Amino acid sequence: MSAAHDRSPGSPLAALVACLDAAVGADCSQSICAGVKAGLERYAAADQGGLDRVLPRTGGDKYGRHLLHRDPQGRYTIVAMTWESGQGTPIHDHCGMWCVECVQAGRIVVTSYDRSEVSGAGGGDGEQVRFARAAEVTAGVGEAGSLIPPFDYHVIHNPFDARAVTVHVYGGEMERCQVFLPAGEGDLYRAETRCLSYSADG
Ligand SMILES: [Fe+2]
Repeated sequence: MSAAHDRSPGSPLAALVACLDAAVGADCSQSICAGVKAGLERYAAADQGGLDRVLPRTGGDKYGRHLLHRDPQGRYTIVAMTWESGQGTPIHDHCGMWCVECVQAGRIVVTSYDRSEVSGAGGGDGEQVRFARAAEVTAGVGEAGSLIPPFDYHVIHNPFDARAVTVHVYGGEMERCQVFLPAGEGDLYRAETRCLSYSADG
């Protein structure tokens, strides 16, 4: 177990898990996400950049994805992500799962998109979709945001010189999502299912 996974009594991660265990008992996604957001903001303050010191670096365009905790009842997972300068995601969804994200180190840019269908493939791979940029937010340490379906098409990108670290809490385990890759013409994208895995340390 690495320092990032330390859940000994009194550790920042133990406090976060206790907070999330309580938060996921709320009766709607909005209320759950509000409780999770408060927990993540406290975690960022308590962690004091600890995740940034212990999580390994990744090369190329492959951002790091580290499982910190899986709720034994399957209600949520806590995943830390590392973003070296220039790394980011394509436009993607969260397959209908709520998510709350909080910055632990550095800064990230989150761009959200509105979608409109163009040609159907039953909502699956190969579907052609047009996206329009809806909003762009730069988030720094301790700043958190929620993604509650159906408004969940977005890109995370680190255009800054310094590495960024974020922690994401999902309402389950996100093993795959749909990504949207440029289809060669302006705002036109092609849907593709992407399986997600964790970096080597878990
Ligand atoms: Fe995402």
